[in-house]
Amino acid sequence: MKIISSAEEMRAFSKECRRENKTVALVPTMGALHAGHLSLIDIARKSADIVVVSVFVNPTQFGPNEDFANYPRKPEEDFEACRSRGVDAVFAPPASEIYRPDASTYISEEQISQNLCGKSRPKHFRGVTTVVGILFNIVRPDKAVFGLKDAQQVAVIRRMVRDLFFDVEIVEAPIIREDSGLALSSRNAYLDPGEREGARRIYESLLKGKALADDGCTNVDRIKALVINSVSSAKIRVIYVEVVDRLTSLPVQVAERGKSRISIAVWYGRVRLIDNIEI
Ligand code: PAJ
Repeated sequence: MKIISSAEEMRAFSKECRRENKTVALVPTMGALHAGHLSLIDIARKSADIVVVSVFVNPTQFGPNEDFANYPRKPEEDFEACRSRGVDAVFAPPASEIYRPDASTYISEEQISQNLCGKSRPKHFRGVTTVVGILFNIVRPDKAVFGLKDAQQVAVIRRMVRDLFFDVEIVEAPIIREDSGLALSSRNAYLDPGEREGARRIYESLLKGKALADDGCTNVDRIKALVINSVSSAKIRVIYVEVVDRLTSLPVQVAERGKSRISIAVWYGRVRLIDNIEI
């Protein structure tokens, strides 16, 4: 497995793959890899000849008071996990390879990104689309795999790819959860064991919302109220609960089974956690 830190070398590797008529799948990550990330790698492995995993904690998607400095970084463990999963190349650039000191160009999606996480993290998706666009231009993958854990991110990237004619197929991967139902996330590392146990409430509340919809309820306000009431606690504060279109992540007026998704973001103490479920 190659470990590449320069954009130029990454480009050359990828170009060589294409010259040999090999298809390339990219799995963009910010590292601290867990079973959720590894499931994306497995999907990439099955869908292309060459698998590239990028490991880059992207500064532009963190707000000024967010956890960029403390975000977990475990490069050696990540490389080992990639190696054991049959990855062909890890692209782990320093920030200076991705952003010039006077970089002044961004990609910004301006509809889907305004809702849900976009409301409380105003420049977050602009950072995501910019770095994903840069990674696509460096790696030039045929396919790129993203997890539905971040369903709004998938919707924003799909829109970017469509609107800007990026020649890449977006592949989405299901959410991987702990036995408790808690969605795996690098940020779970901030939770102590007791909090981790308490965080099962998040998925449990989504299941209650889904059960209400399964019973025939299409009323968005009732579903939202049930989820909010069942998740809220002394330690868990809701940032948003929304019923959205499962493809675009835009809020809907009527919850429709097979077409909608319940999305949630909470503060668990000082840790921001998100999750969602299709209904
Ligand atoms: P990161 O949070 O590291 O996630 C990388 C990919 O793993 C994303 O597509 C995310 O949805 C997926 N993922 C995370 N937890 C998952 C889980 N429990 N089940 C399934 N998939 C999961 O998302 C980012 O990084 C960044 O925004 C990035 C796209 C790399 C741009 O910087």
